[in-house]
Amino acid sequence: MLTGEDDNEPGNEPDAKSDDASSSSGAAQPARLVVVSNRVGPLKDEGRAGGLAVGLADALRRRGGLWFGWSGETSPEGTSGPEKTEIHGQTALTTIDLSEEDLEGFYYGYANRSLWPLLHYRLDLATFDRQSDRIYRSVNQRFAARLSPLIDDGDIVWVHDYHFFYLGSELRQCGFKGRLGFFLHIPFCPPDILTALPSSHDLVRAMLAYDLVGFQTESDRRNFVAFCVQELDGVEGADGTVSVAGRSVRAAVFPIGIDAESFRRFAVSPEAGEHEEMLRNIARDRLQIVGVDRMDYSKGLVQRLQGFERLLEDYPENRGAVQLLQIAPLSRAELGPYVDLREELEGLAGRLNGRFAMLDWTPVQIMTRGFSRRALAGIYRAARVCMVTPLRDGMNLVAKEYVAAQDPDDPGVLILSRFAGARAELGDALIVNPYAIDDIARALQRALTMPLEERQRRYESMQAAVFTGTAARWCDSFLAKLDESAPQAVV
Ligand code: G6P
Repeated sequence: MLTGEDDNEPGNEPDAKSDDASSSSGAAQPARLVVVSNRVGPLKDEGRAGGLAVGLADALRRRGGLWFGWSGETSPEGTSGPEKTEIHGQTALTTIDLSEEDLEGFYYGYANRSLWPLLHYRLDLATFDRQSDRIYRSVNQRFAARLSPLIDDGDIVWVHDYHFFYLGSELRQCGFKGRLGFFLHIPFCPPDILTALPSSHDLVRAMLAYDLVGFQTESDRRNFVAFCVQELDGVEGADGTVSVAGRSVRAAVFPIGIDAESFRRFAVSPEAGEHEEMLRNIARDRLQIVGVDRMDYSKGLVQRLQGFERLLEDYPENRGAVQLLQIAPLSRAELGPYVDLREELEGLAGRLNGRFAMLDWTPVQIMTRGFSRRALAGIYRAARVCMVTPLRDGMNLVAKEYVAAQDPDDPGVLILSRFAGARAELGDALIVNPYAIDDIARALQRALTMPLEERQRRYESMQAAVFTGTAARWCDSFLAKLDESAPQAVV
């Protein structure tokens, strides 16, 4: 059984639940924000929250409202069991359980065996079966039915991520007439890939029930519009709308950000300082390279290790002089591709270390434990280079956190995949093709030898982007656009 121990973002320890729990969700208020996502919380950012959570928690703290989703637990009653509610100030966190059958069909099955690989362009890893398709739709329908009595038409409902594509249309079926938005945190693949999903037409049609659908990048938005046009005979309007069979939805781009100010503060906290110092002491005069990712095949971890190995082969002056720390907390660890990835990665690291290690130097260290965000901030500050080299990624907030954590007087270098959503804003990183091992090795060598002035110049431009495109701005711009996009809203 999955417990609440998985967190939304890499490297994070599970959140400690607040103790001011209550069993009521509170009365509805006008324009209250209602957020729906599979993982709920944490709301108090005690330095442990993940990316999605940080963005949403910030919005909910400021506006108040309801955050509704899965408890992270299973029980025999599943979605028909009692809801659990915690009240934090003006915000209620309300969750329900899944049954074991739902967990298998909805979470492991359709969400993570079909949609996750497919939307990350990995048709080779996607599997489809009608049972999990049925359970996924049914869980969406049951979540909508449980949410429905907790909301009214004056609320703004904002649904998140690939677990809940059908939730909006189910809420409409339940009679909800208020503003309804959806944001996809992961990529939206091109129609030629998505059409491999047996129910792709139903899935995209269901997205039309929202007033606004948000994506991380322009390419994701274009892929969605292209699907509507090519597969559903839709028509693209001038203002970012797409109409299919009389129903119009607005599709727009909202790159998610971090709470950069808080993260900068984390980086100079005592906990960060301890971790920074520890890492510097262990590394001594060696340059530290760091990677922080959930252990997921979309993150390009195998190619990253191969790139590091190529660095040691092609630029031998780095032997004994640099080390790679890869923090890779386990996620969805019982699914086949994740088991295979872990084995491959550990085998690769073992071989690499066996080949190059010296008595006082181990080139690669892989850790599957998580760290608090304060500790991570310290680790980022100690690292001369951060590798964010996913094969495909919606945004990747590690890239932004690494930048926010840097010491402006001596900043490190970010190596960033051209296939991460963050690339659009962080063009001053060293951009690499994560499939090209030589490209990775060359970028590493360049990063490790980059003069201070160039590091500072690149950092300045990236930190400006990170401190402008924050989580709060992401949230406000989505909600502002949702206001414009919902003619049927009852306020
Ligand atoms: C990605 C998804 C999130 C998800 C997270 C962790 O960031 O966009 O929706 O919560 O991965 O995955 P998990 O399966 O543990 O929730």
